[in-house]
Amino acid sequence: MSVPLHLVILAGGRGERARRPDDARPKQFVQVAGRPLFAWSVARLASHPDVASLALTCPEEFAATSAVELEAAAPGVPHVLAAPGATRTASTLSALEALAVAQRPGAEDLVAVHDAARPLVCEDLLARLAAAALRAGGAVPGTPVTDTTVRLGADGRLEYLSRRDLRGVQTPQVFRWAPFLAAHRRAAAAGQTFTDDGGLMAAAGRAPALVEGDAGNFKVTTSEDLAAVTARLALS
Ligand code: CTP
Ligand code: MG
Repeated sequence: MSVPLHLVILAGGRGERARRPDDARPKQFVQVAGRPLFAWSVARLASHPDVASLALTCPEEFAATSAVELEAAAPGVPHVLAAPGATRTASTLSALEALAVAQRPGAEDLVAVHDAARPLVCEDLLARLAAAALRAGGAVPGTPVTDTTVRLGADGRLEYLSRRDLRGVQTPQVFRWAPFLAAHRRAAAAGQTFTDDGGLMAAAGRAPALVEGDAGNFKVTTSEDLAAVTARLALS
């Protein structure tokens, strides 16, 4: 069984940590191998056969060119642009509200939220997440932690954590439309912010399922990451 899948691509951040002295654009709008960085994840995810629509959070000054790039990366997929919020959580809700008006997703539809800063995402990961979200209501991708990891106590003491129990969590993250929108609206009313949507759903009592993530699906955070991803995409 499959249901319509709506994509939310978050490209509303300032990209401060990846900023280069010679380029004022946030990382997701830097031109990489022929298209802006954000358009790579759009192209890779929109090829999934269940994708019914797409919302992009994007600052006003990039809206006109982004609309053109969206049409090229996801031809024929209805899309809507949404103003970014002050936080990632607020940007996600902004995109959901724009989708609610423009597409009226069904309560049981799925929505996948993805950071534009992860351009190497693949359709197979989205398909596995969607299948898990159909069963569990929500699913996030997690990868094993490879560094030894410690918690730094207030007294400066280190507590060594068991790596076996830890995962790094990526995007995309997939949820059923109606409970996801409701949880986001409640979090906004309560003034709560989260670093990801799975965390927001867990706080609402709907912790998502964990799906095996993809080590190649890394997030561009620094200017070194941007250089690395540019080299990878130039070869693709
Ligand atoms: N994002 C967003 N709206 C915000 C903040 C972040 O849409 N108010 C998006 C970013 O564009 C990015 C994703 O959320 O695709 C993950 O955020 P991050 O990697 O932290 O990007 P930035 O916040 O832009 O970078 P920085 O924290 O270095 O300024
Ligand atoms: Mg940030």
